[in-house]
Amino acid sequence: MATLVPLSAIDPALIDALLDAAFGADRHARTAYRIRAGVDWLPGLSFAALDDNDCLTGTIQVWPVALTDAMGRAHPLLMVGPVAVMPQRQGEGFGKALMAAALGAVDPAAALPQVLIGDDSYYGRWGFSAAHTGGWRCPGPWDRARLLARCGNPAVLPRAGLLGPWTGAANLAPGRDAL
Ligand SMILES: CC(C)(COP(=O)(O)OP(=O)(O)OC[C@H]1O[C@@H](n2cnc3c(N)ncnc32)[C@H](O)[C@@H]1OP(=O)(O)O)[C@@H](O)C(=O)NCCC(=O)NCCS
Repeated sequence: MATLVPLSAIDPALIDALLDAAFGADRHARTAYRIRAGVDWLPGLSFAALDDNDCLTGTIQVWPVALTDAMGRAHPLLMVGPVAVMPQRQGEGFGKALMAAALGAVDPAAALPQVLIGDDSYYGRWGFSAAHTGGWRCPGPWDRARLLARCGNPAVLPRAGLLGPWTGAANLAPGRDAL
């Protein structure tokens, strides 16, 4: 049975160790890291899963990114992932619980489209697909079949553009005084 807690409650060193175990220590070279370079994960949408002994078993992080179109306009998106579960605990439902927590925390009344790089066979169950990302580019190597988006109304998705960090999100950081 998983207990889900905000990721902000977890020691960052433990999160790094879990990500190293799930993806390998060379994970920082992945294209996903370049897409969200320089931005922080969103605390309201990022979670940790603890097992029955309160051991950290899985994490999910969600990041503010944007697709910049040919006119230079940035279309904000939420980048989901990495979803990571300790190798010895995979296949027990922690990943699905983490996905349900993160997607459930996205306000349906003000949802931004969500994007991730991952297997359609896993993420398709939540409505992610490559159907609308064929014209999207990444700042590094990527497999078109694994660039997936999820959106209540795909008509609003830009047809083409380059994914990168959404620096405009800095204005929304918690504790930042409104101008
Ligand atoms: C992918 C990952 C997050 C899934 O979490 P998990 O806790 O192992 O998976 P769950 O127990 O929640 O879900 C199991 C289901 O997912 C399926 N599944 C797991 N990994 C899959 C994959 N890569 N592709 C397709 N299906 C997959 C299982 O077959 C099972 O299917 P079922 O529900 O129909 O029986 C986890 O295995 C992991 O951390 N892997 C290494 C890191 C990684 O690749 N992360 C994803 C990229 S961001």
